Amino acid sequence: MTDENLITAHEKEAAGAPDTHAQYRLLPLVLLFVFSGLIFYAGAYLNRYSGHFSRDIFDERQLPASGQPAVAAIDPVVLGKRQYALACVTCHMPNGMGVPNLYPPLVGTEWVLGSEERLIAIVVHGLKGPITVKGNVYSAAAMPAFGQVPGGGYNWSDERIAAVLTYIRQEWGNEAGAITAQQVAAVRTAHPDRKEWTEPELLALP
Ligand code: HEC
Repeated sequence: MTDENLITAHEKEAAGAPDTHAQYRLLPLVLLFVFSGLIFYAGAYLNRYSGHFSRDIFDERQLPASGQPAVAAIDPVVLGKRQYALACVTCHMPNGMGVPNLYPPLVGTEWVLGSEERLIAIVVHGLKGPITVKGNVYSAAAMPAFGQVPGGGYNWSDERIAAVLTYIRQEWGNEAGAITAQQVAAVRTAHPDRKEWTEPELLALP
C-alpha cells in the first residue's frame, strides 16, 4: 500500500464523521488580562520584598561571608518578657503582685532575689505545699513544673527558663543578676527524678 492509497483511504473513512476535536475555542480574553495582571503583581512584589536577593536578607542564621557563624543574640529580657506574658502572667499577674492568699508575688521576694539555685529549682520542677513569701504563707495552689523533666507539661528549654528568670529578677524594680541557661541545665541535671519541691527541701539547697 502506497502513501497516497493510505491518505485517500483515511479521507474516505473520515468524510462521513465530523471531526469533533477540531472545534477550538479561544480562551476568554479576560483571562489574558487576569494572568498578565498576576504576573505584573508577582514581579512588583518580588521587586519590593526580595531585598534584591541579598544574602544578608535570606541567610536566617546570619552567617557572614567569612569567619565564624554569628547567630544573632536575643536579649534575654525581651525573650523572658514574652515567656512571662505567655505562661506566668495568669497566676502571678502582669504587675508581678500575684493574687492574695493564692498566688504569691514575684516583686521583691526572697525566692526571686535570693538563692539562684532555689529559684531555678522552683520553676524547673514546680513547687507545692505551704511556702512563706514576704511573711505570708501560701498553700492553696501549686506552682507547675516548667522544665524538661518527667511529667512537666510545659517542657521549656533551659534558655527559655533562664530568660524568664532573668526577666523577673530585673522587672518591677527587682534588681538581681541574670540567670544563664547553663545554670538552669546544672540544676535540672543535678535532680533528674525530682517532682515538685516543698519549702523545707528548697531551703536545704544552697
Ligand atoms: C498555675 C499558676 C501558676 C503559674 C502559671 C506560675 N506560677 Fe509561680 N507560683 C504559683 C504558686 C501557687 C506558687 C506558690 C506555690 C506553693 O504555694 O507551694 C508559685 C510560686 C512561685 C515562686 C516562688 C515564690 C515567690 O513568689 O517568690 C516563683 C519564683 C514563681 N512562682 C515563678 C513563676 C514563674 C517564673 C512562672 C512562669 C514561668 C510561674 N511562676 C508560673 C503559681 C503559678
